[in-house]
Formats: sequence, C-alpha cells, structure tokens
Amino acid sequence: MARQGSFFLKSLVLFLGFVGFVPFGAKAAVKKYQFDIQVKNVSRLCHAKPIVTVNGMFPGPTIYAREGDRVLVNVTNYAEYNMSIHWHGLKQFRNGWADGPAYVTQCPITRGQSYSYGFNITGQRGTLWWHAHILWLRATVYGAIVILPKQGTPFPFPQPDQEANIILGEWWNTDVEQVINQANKLGIPPNMSDAHTINGKPGPLFPCSEKHTFAMEVEWGKTYLLRIINAALNDELFFAIAGHNMTVVEIDAVYSKPFSTQALLIAPGQTTNVLVQANQNPGRYFIAARPFIDVPIPADNKTAIAILQYKGIPNTVMPILPQLPSPNNTEFVMSYNDKLRSLNTPQFPAKVPLNVDRHLFYTIGLGRNPCPTCVNGTQFTASLNNITFVMPQIGLLQAHYFNIKGVFRTDFPDRPLKSFNYTGAPLTANLGTSLGTRLNRVAFNSTVELVLQDTNLLTIESHPFHLHGYNFFIVGRGIGNFDPAKDPAKFNLVDPPERNTAGVPTGGWTAIRFTADNPGVWFLHCHLEVHTTWGLKTAFVVEDGKGPNQSILPPPKDLPPC
Ligand SMILES: *[C@@H]1O[C@H](CO)[C@@H](O)[C@H](O)[C@H]1NC(C)=O
Ligand SMILES: *[C@@H]1O[C@H](CO)[C@@H](O)[C@H](O)[C@H]1NC(C)=O
Ligand SMILES: *[C@@H]1O[C@H](CO)[C@@H](O)[C@H](O)[C@H]1NC(C)=O
Ligand SMILES: *[C@@H]1O[C@H](CO)[C@@H](O)[C@H](O)[C@H]1NC(C)=O
Ligand SMILES: *[C@@H]1O[C@H](CO)[C@@H](O)[C@H](O)[C@H]1NC(C)=O
Ligand SMILES: *[C@@H]1O[C@H](CO)[C@@H](O)[C@H](O)[C@H]1NC(C)=O
Ligand SMILES: *[C@@H]1O[C@H](CO)[C@@H](O)[C@H](O)[C@H]1NC(C)=O
Ligand SMILES: *[C@@H]1O[C@H](CO)[C@@H](O)[C@H](O)[C@H]1NC(C)=O
Ligand SMILES: *[C@@H]1O[C@H](CO)[C@@H](O)[C@H](O)[C@H]1NC(C)=O
Ligand SMILES: *[C@@H]1O[C@H](CO)[C@@H](O)[C@H](O)[C@H]1NC(C)=O
Ligand SMILES: *[C@@H]1O[C@H](CO)[C@@H](O)[C@H](O)[C@H]1NC(C)=O
Ligand SMILES: *[C@@H]1O[C@H](CO)[C@@H](O)[C@H](O)[C@H]1NC(C)=O
Repeated sequence: MARQGSFFLKSLVLFLGFVGFVPFGAKAAVKKYQFDIQVKNVSRLCHAKPIVTVNGMFPGPTIYAREGDRVLVNVTNYAEYNMSIHWHGLKQFRNGWADGPAYVTQCPITRGQSYSYGFNITGQRGTLWWHAHILWLRATVYGAIVILPKQGTPFPFPQPDQEANIILGEWWNTDVEQVINQANKLGIPPNMSDAHTINGKPGPLFPCSEKHTFAMEVEWGKTYLLRIINAALNDELFFAIAGHNMTVVEIDAVYSKPFSTQALLIAPGQTTNVLVQANQNPGRYFIAARPFIDVPIPADNKTAIAILQYKGIPNTVMPILPQLPSPNNTEFVMSYNDKLRSLNTPQFPAKVPLNVDRHLFYTIGLGRNPCPTCVNGTQFTASLNNITFVMPQIGLLQAHYFNIKGVFRTDFPDRPLKSFNYTGAPLTANLGTSLGTRLNRVAFNSTVELVLQDTNLLTIESHPFHLHGYNFFIVGRGIGNFDPAKDPAKFNLVDPPERNTAGVPTGGWTAIRFTADNPGVWFLHCHLEVHTTWGLKTAFVVEDGKGPNQSILPPPKDLPPC
C-alpha cells in the first residue's frame, strides 16, 4: 500500500451529520424539493473539472420521505446537457410519467426548462436512490432516497441509534461525456474510471486525498444503520469495514432475513442496508470498496477508502484495513447471494407468483457490428435475443399512451430465434446483431417469468439487470445454460430475494418472476452503463386493465415536449 503517511489524514473533517428518525411530522404529507441542475468545478485526485450536479452538491441531496407520502421534485436544468432523473426502485404505480429514463417515459428537460416529478410512495420503505437517466450524466448526478416506515411502525430488526448513507461511485479525471463519445466514435470500450469513491471521495490510496476522504465518527456501544448504494457506472463492488461484521437487513428497499457477513457485494443500481455495532476496540478502521471482476477484461480495480472512527480517538492513529474478497472471488459472490432471502413474515409477505402466464427467455450477448468509420471497422455492441435496442426520438410511453405509430414495434421475441450452446466455447462467427426498437407486450396482471441467460458470444460477463416500475423475485440462478426441464424444480418460491436489480452471473442465468400489475412502458436494461450504451436494453409494454384504477394516469401538464 502506497503513501503510508497520508493514512493519518490529520485534517479530516468527521461526518457527524447522522440523521435521527423523525426528521419531520407524523402524518403522510407532501415533501417538496427543488433540484437545480448546475455545473460546478470539482476537484479530485489533484484534477479539477466542471461536473454536472444537483444544487452544486456531489453526491446530490438526499430525498427523505415516509411511506405514504407524496413527493414533488421540481427539476430545473441550468446545464448545457439535456437532463432527466430516474427515481430508481420507486414503483410509480400507473405513473410512468415520473419514472425518468429519457426517450422511454419522457423527453429530456432541455436547458432552461423545468419538470416537476410527482409521485406517491405506496407500499415501499427503505433505501433507494435517484440518478440522471440520460447520456453518462449519472456519473455525477446521483443521491439517496430514504423512505422511513410509517410513523409508529418499527423496523423488523433492532432499532439502530443512528444512520448514515454510504454512496459508492466512480470518478473520471476527464469529462465523462468525452470519454463515452470518444469510445463510441472509435468503436472501442470507454476508458476505465480513475477512482472509486465513497460519498464522492476516493480516500487515501489516491493522491490529493487529505480533504477527499469520508470519515464517520461512531460512539462505542451504539448501533448504526448504513444505507449503502452502488451508484458506480460499470463496477460491481465488494464492501467491508475493518474489524466489524455487518448484518444485512434490507436489499433494494425490501426487508430481508438478517445475516451477518464480513463483506458484501453490491451491483450498480442495488442498495443494501446493514446494521453495524460499534463494539470493537475504540480506534480507527478503514471502510473499503473494490470491484468484483471475474473475467479477464480491463477494468478499474482500484480501492476506495473511508474511515470509521470511534469518538475520542485522535486522527493520528493508524487505521486497520479490512479484508475484501479477492477481485475474482466468484465463490464468495455465489455464497453471499445464496444468503439473500425475503423476510417473508405475515406483515411483510413474499408474494411470489406461483403460476406463470408468460415464460420469457432472453439471451444477453456482447458482439461486434460493422462500423466503417471506427478504428477496426467494427464497433462493440450488445443485445438481448440478438436485438440491439435503438433509442427512439420521442418517449416510448407517449407513443404508447397517445397511440403514435411508427415509434416502436411490439414483436420482441419471447425467446431467441436461434438456439445454440449459449455458454459454450466462444463463437467467432455470428457476432453481428439486428437493430430495432422492439418491445414485448404483456397483459395486465399477468404473471411473468423471465430467464436472463448470459452467452459467450465475444465473452461471458456478469450483468446486473434493472427493471423499472416493479420489484421482482429472483427465484433461481445458475452457471451454464438454463435447463427448462430440470432447473425450475430447484426454484425458491417461498422466500426468494425481492429486488429491482438482479445480477446475472458470468456465464450463467437468473430467473425472475413478477406480476404485471403496473400498466405503462417499463425499461429493462443492464445497469452497467457501458452495456446499456451498446444496446443491452428493451422495455415491456404492460397493457391497461379493465378496472377503474388499472390504467395509465394522464400525463402531467409540464411533461417536457420533444
Ligand atoms: C476549475 O478549476 C481549475 C483549477 O482551479 C481551473 O484551472 C479551471 O479554470 C476551473 N474551471 C472552471 C470552469 O471554472
Ligand atoms: C420549478 O422551478 C422553476 C425555476 O425556479 C420555476 O419557474 C417553476 O415555477 C417551478 N415549478 C413548479 C411546479 O414549482
Ligand atoms: C397520489 O395520491 C394523491 C392523494 O394523496 C392522489 O390524489 C393522486 O392521484 C395520487 N397520484 C398518483 C400518481 O398516484
Ligand atoms: C482515453 O485514454 C487514452 C489512452 O490513455 C487517452 O489518450 C485519451 O485521451 C483518453 N480519453 C479521454 C476522453 O479522456
Ligand atoms: C465476524 O464473523 C466471522 C465469521 O462468522 C467471525 O469469525 C468473527 O469473529 C466475526 N467478527 C466480529 C468482530 O464479530
Ligand atoms: C489491478 O489491475 C492491474 C492491471 O490493470 C494489476 O496489475 C493489479 O495486480 C490489479 N490489482 C488487483 C488487486 O487485482
Ligand atoms: C484469482 O486471481 C488470482 C491472482 O490473479 C489467481 O491466482 C487465481 O487463480 C484466480 N482465481 C480464480 C478462481 O480465477
Ligand atoms: C483492432 O484489431 C487488432 C487486431 O485484431 C487488435 O489488436 C486491436 O486491439 C484492435 N483495436 C481496437 C481499438 O479494438
Ligand atoms: C456446451 O459447451 C460446453 C463448453 O464447451 C460443453 O462442456 C458442453 O458439453 C456443451 N453443451 C452442449 C449441449 O453441447
Ligand atoms: C444475430 O443477427 C445477425 C443479423 O441478422 C445474424 O447475422 C447473426 O447470425 C445472429 N446471431 C445469432 C446468435 O442469432
Ligand atoms: C390479478 O390476478 C389475481 C390472480 O388471478 C387476482 O387474484 C387479482 O385480483 C388480480 N388483480 C387485479 C388488480 O386485477
Ligand atoms: C435535447 O432534447 C431535445 C428534445 O428531445 C432535442 O430536440 C435535442 O436535440 C436534444 N439535444 C441534444 C444535444 O441532444
């Protein structure tokens, strides 16, 4: 480890801004926020550069609400980039207009314009997050959403004394839009990030880190709830605190069966709540995050560090480093994921669909398409069922709601047209894909099982998939090819983890189930931004039901036009 001296970080400013549990009144209420999209000059790793922020903050402001509240966020764009904000994991029942992905549920908020996102928080409590959902702007435009239980409703785990948000991110020294534009032009993967960050700060393993290390002060004997969010663009991360085990109690704003662990894995898009007891020798302990990479592809493997410091301990005490799983420790990842279970109590039941109306099987492919202007005459591409998604010029939800023809087709195939040995030896042919804005139509209230199958076209890799508008149950997971004859017998239909973002293992498959009871157009995509950019995305059109509260609400008046 380099630069021992800098570990002392005498000038650290300790984070004492823990939040109590009643930041506002008891009754369900309307919570109003103003988000000004502003460019601010920010310095990390000895480099200063202008970044896009919300209200000049990096990370951005936390949204606090209670279950049952209505939230209004007026977003005003003062930056030169088009903007839209996604409220990641909020179900937005009948209300896709507030979901946020650009050209999926809305047109962007252009410079000088405002759009007020209005949504009710119904039947959800826990940690979620918000981020830009256009271009690569989510690299710096992100923040936490903390949904407290209804007043008087306790957590289903021991009440912590205090809580803090821990947001993991990725930092580039150059402008992220230039990074991705350059890569797209050349047809090659984008430059990897220069650092990982914890609450926007890379920590003492990086230069110029004195002021850029997040440190939290704890009191001996107290229990802390940490709300951990992975806001990184392209990296699944291991996370650990030296000398302290963590008890996982919630994932993606769903309570889970508690278990103790020395380290956890969190994929981009996911959140994990843990309880940490400050019950060790009072001292200074490093908190660390580093990627999980189990394929030989170039990736930023650098470690971000923060500090957990007991009250009364001076900044000159040398902190202890935690033991993170090695970057390629697939075994740890499998065993960690196996421990994740829904709480499944009478108060918080796991309503797993037992009968399936629609069986879907989507293959994930990385490939190359011709590109005459690119350096090697080809560009990297990605596909689902061999279809690379083409973004439309107007919002898909508008096209659906107003019945505008010619924007998308609803002929996305339920399974690949050609079956092959998906995870067998890499194929040298068939690396091309077909292009299209193709969606799958799903009947209201039907039950859907989707098996996402990684393939070895070009290379296998793990993919965290995010579905908008829903949580789903991860009923099964495996390595190799999904076997429809044998694998379903092993599904967990009792207490599978419920999430909004699920990892598909490297060279393997993941089976998810959900009930399509939220009408609208809902994005489904890999949450590795580089893969989304290459086309690893599609959407479901969930039809309206016949009942009075089963159709898409009318759009708000200030919905941005195209
Ligand atoms: C950002 O800060 C750097 C270093 O202080 C300075 O050189 C640069 O001009 C600033 N850029 C802007 C846009 O203010
Ligand atoms: C949003 O903010 C802008 C800029 O301050 C303001 O003009 C607009 O009236 C606000 N909209 C709402 C709905 O509050
Ligand atoms: C949100 O709840 C309010 C009542 O508090 C209701 O009037 C409104 O229609 C709901 N909006 C959505 C988008 O569900
Ligand atoms: C990406 O990395 C290459 C090689 O280090 C460098 O020449 C290029 O300027 C970088 N691009 C951007 C946009 O930073
Ligand atoms: C953390 O858990 C491991 C494995 O269960 C155990 O060996 C260790 O003693 C625990 N450490 C602390 C500080 O509780
Ligand atoms: C990180 O990657 C570099 C090459 O990019 C390699 O030399 C180094 O050993 C890796 N570090 C770890 C911890 O895997
Ligand atoms: C993980 O990486 C280490 C060091 O690079 C290597 O020795 C080991 O074989 C790898 N393990 C697996 C399971 O690939
Ligand atoms: C271009 O192709 C050559 C030969 O296959 C390869 O060595 C090189 O890495 C490729 N360059 C890029 C930018 O993909
Ligand atoms: C698929 O490929 C793998 C790896 O090459 C091989 O072990 C397996 O037998 C193949 N399966 C089939 C059905 O051909
Ligand atoms: C994907 O589609 C392209 C273009 O139609 C075709 O050339 C290729 O063989 C297909 N690959 C697979 C794996 O189906
Ligand atoms: C959805 O279907 C289930 C099972 O068929 C039924 O019990 C439920 O009432 C339906 N819900 C709605 C909103 O139609
Ligand atoms: C911003 O969005 C508007 C509305 O969709 C579009 O007309 C314009 O081309 C976009 N600007 C850029 C730079 O993409």
